[in-house]
Amino acid sequence: MCGIIGIASNKPVSINIINSLKKLEYRGYDSAGIATLTDNTINEKKCSGRVEELEKILFKTPSNGNIGIGHVRWATHGVPNITNAHPHSSEQVSVVHNGIIENSDEIKKELKAKGIKFKSQTDTEVVTLLITEALKENKPLESVFKTLKKLKGSFALGIIFKNFSNIIIGARRGSPLAVGYSKEENYIGSDSYALKSMTNKISYLEDGELCLLTKDEVSFYDERLKKINKKILTLSENGSSADKGEYKHFMVKEIFEQPDTVKECIEEYVDSSKKNINILNFPIDPQKINKIILIGCGTAYNSCLTAKYWFEELTSIDVEIDIASEFRYRNLKFNAKNLYIFVSQSGETADTAAALDICKKNNIKTCSVVNVIESTIARNSDWVLPIHAGIEIGVASTKAFLGQLTVLYILCLKLAFVRKDIDEKTYVKHVTNLKKLPDAIKKCIKSENNVQLMAKEFISAKGSMFLGRGPSFPIALEGALKLKELSYLHAEGYPAGEMKHGPLALIEEGLPVIVLAPMDKYFEKTISNMQEVIARGGKILFITDNKKESLNENIRFGLRVPHIDNLLSPILLTLPLQMLAYHVALLKNCDVDKPRNLAKSVTVE
Ligand code: AGP
Repeated sequence: MCGIIGIASNKPVSINIINSLKKLEYRGYDSAGIATLTDNTINEKKCSGRVEELEKILFKTPSNGNIGIGHVRWATHGVPNITNAHPHSSEQVSVVHNGIIENSDEIKKELKAKGIKFKSQTDTEVVTLLITEALKENKPLESVFKTLKKLKGSFALGIIFKNFSNIIIGARRGSPLAVGYSKEENYIGSDSYALKSMTNKISYLEDGELCLLTKDEVSFYDERLKKINKKILTLSENGSSADKGEYKHFMVKEIFEQPDTVKECIEEYVDSSKKNINILNFPIDPQKINKIILIGCGTAYNSCLTAKYWFEELTSIDVEIDIASEFRYRNLKFNAKNLYIFVSQSGETADTAAALDICKKNNIKTCSVVNVIESTIARNSDWVLPIHAGIEIGVASTKAFLGQLTVLYILCLKLAFVRKDIDEKTYVKHVTNLKKLPDAIKKCIKSENNVQLMAKEFISAKGSMFLGRGPSFPIALEGALKLKELSYLHAEGYPAGEMKHGPLALIEEGLPVIVLAPMDKYFEKTISNMQEVIARGGKILFITDNKKESLNENIRFGLRVPHIDNLLSPILLTLPLQMLAYHVALLKNCDVDKPRNLAKSVTVE
């Protein structure tokens, strides 16, 4: 999950490359670099750390040149230092790469045997040196084409050439690559977000395709190097601006956006006057669906696990869920009456995209629930259900999670109704309740001060447990994931009923234990599990929507969220956990928007 950019222009490109790299930092931020062409010389500058370090270098020693490439890195091969930062250049060629070259060791051995020297520990450098070798007998495009045929693994590449100072070549296999168009200037970039400040005219490369761009024109080639045409999309300006406004971090801005983003999502799907959900073009006749399989990674997987409870509760459809990186290696038995639903905020997660690809190869109908509708996963699905959350910059997903839950819940209601698993009265009741969700979310967010008080309990603790039953269990997983990825503290989400089968041994005096206990059929059982924890010294942080429950004296902190109906409780229980993770991270001075070791979109295995 790195970010790449390339610009061919009639004017110097380094400032625009730097600005695009700043927009790409959500994809990786452990090192950065730029290479431009000036007087037929490749001028490469790199840094470890953030793009602003690179900006300082350029300020001191400006790079001119109207052709250039840039890169932000999330290390896969080789430690994050200047040597391993991209671009990787020889005297003839400079390359930026997002992906993993799986046979790089084998190629390295072959090239070293020819006396070719390597500077870095990266896989990418083999691409640079293979192209350099091929250039001895081929033109740039053929050199790249011959090189790609030797590579195994995934890549999005941006390449410039010392002796061809007006072209940039891009290539894609398994990692996203977009092309942007402007007057006397053209671009390649990992995604449209990196290009949006310069153009809204975008094309997307598919796997196996290459592009060759100059400042005046762009040509595309297929995997046989045959010239092809590509559609030019005009991207919409989406509502949420990609700046923090008055907020300190993108994450807290995105938490506070949730009443609006969920409201917008509901309005996109629900006809407010008729109280009807206008999802119509199912890829499989809803009456004939015999199983739904929900697939995602990380937070997106947690939304799948939550939705499983809804589908089981409201429909007669059998439901299965899987983590994408597991699904893609299973010995799967496909059935044309199964609907596979892929959930992904970015729509670029490699494991999820690969899992989708397996379904496509088996002629299985697929649906994707995404935030980025121009993304690979969306473009490769038979049916796309956007979550309308607006751009999400914080690496820790918040508003996208609620968007995923909202869309999956809406889909579940619609399927239950069209299949007559629920009657019209029940359907209208649930749709009416759904419309109360944005205001209830707003009320949840008002409890931020109490949550802030809870945050202190985690700072010096050895770890923490998040417990829930039924649809609160995936929310417990999500709360633990948020705390881990934001504060780097160990946290574990667990089914409350499972604690007695081992993890209860972890409970000791003062260990913070978050108990999620909405007023549903699991409430009493969850209270019993909570008592087992209290009896062993656990410090209970209790979150419920049960107004009557008197918070007993053994509870360190009690927090109430609004109650609409049991089915919507998991969504409301999520808000305090998002805010808790945020405040613990603040207390620990962690980088809230760019947590260490992570990236917003994991486009490698
Ligand atoms: C979410 O907080 C995490 N950053 C991560 O688990 C994320 O949900 C996962 O990588 C999936 O990303 P996607 O939704 O873009 O596919």
